[in-house]
Amino acid sequence: MNIADKLVREHRLTETEYAELIRSYEDKNLSKYLADEAVRIRKEVYGDAVYVRGLIEFTNICRNDCFYCGIRKSNPHAERYRLTKEEILDCCGSGYQLGYRTFVLQGGEDGYYTDDRLADIVRTIKARYPDCALTLSVGERSFESYRLLREAGADRYLLRHETADAKHYRRLHPPELSLENRMRCLRDLRRLGYQVGAGFMVGSPYQTAECLAEDLVFLQEFQPEMVGIGPFIPHHDTEFANEPAGSVELTLFLLSVIRIMLPHVLLPATTALGTLSPVGRERGMLAGANVVMPNLSPVKNRKQYELYDNKICTGEEAAECRGCLANRMKSVGFTLVTDRGDYKP
Ligand code: 5AD
Ligand code: FES
Repeated sequence: MNIADKLVREHRLTETEYAELIRSYEDKNLSKYLADEAVRIRKEVYGDAVYVRGLIEFTNICRNDCFYCGIRKSNPHAERYRLTKEEILDCCGSGYQLGYRTFVLQGGEDGYYTDDRLADIVRTIKARYPDCALTLSVGERSFESYRLLREAGADRYLLRHETADAKHYRRLHPPELSLENRMRCLRDLRRLGYQVGAGFMVGSPYQTAECLAEDLVFLQEFQPEMVGIGPFIPHHDTEFANEPAGSVELTLFLLSVIRIMLPHVLLPATTALGTLSPVGRERGMLAGANVVMPNLSPVKNRKQYELYDNKICTGEEAAECRGCLANRMKSVGFTLVTDRGDYKP
């Protein structure tokens, strides 16, 4: 039996088989076959619904120094900002009116946001919008911290593992950061009852087909409720400034593979994918994605949350990404829905 058929029938492969499959991603018949199967599976579970998450990038201050990231602490050109609690609540307010029922608070690892401050914001949002889900994406913290935030009402947590290959991890991060701690965080979050999101960049420097195969095996074992993948895009102020961007085609191929492997997963077509291709997010849907995460951050700060160059949705015209995305999704036969969009086990 060929590998693609085996994946479709058994929803799992060995690491060697994943690597072989990935090496064939430029085979158009293969990618079309996987995309069609992925869309079929996605429709069986979620129909035509596309879930929206209102993304609030509330601080670009970060203690970390990941080599790929534009807001790493050693980038002196990044213009730093931090939203106040009131500004965050305003974002939620306008998001709620636009129909968002999930808010994602994403930020750098900013020491100002202690457990108390963050828990207070979480509690306030959950009290004001009890019908909304709240997702945090604020990096590595202690078990106790994750516990307090969960108790305060956070429902979900996004923490990309970035790469499941320890050697590759060390080439993307300074020595203070380890794959081991990243995995500890993901396990803690799972234990605390969060819906957990993992994920990685496609085409990050030094990544091989074998690294990606390890990523897929990790996802297959960990079974996250959400998976975020997007192409690597160089940022001019990082040491990876001259590295090539990741491939849109390979990203789409991997979206299909992940959908087939994890039929129920909540899988966004990311902003990075939309940045590299003008119809990247639409193509993401046609490859098996079912989530979009439009920007809800104040327009005045959007350009400052610059993880990579040429990020879309940062201009004045992007004040209302929701409408834009509703049209884009409709153009490929999907419907943006107003609902929490929880994982369907
Ligand atoms: N290109 C693409 N994605 C990036 N991220 C960080 N820097 C880049 C970049 N240069 C991703 C990381 C991180 C997420 C918030 O954004 O995977 O987890
Ligand atoms: Fe942001 Fe289109 S989604 S402007």
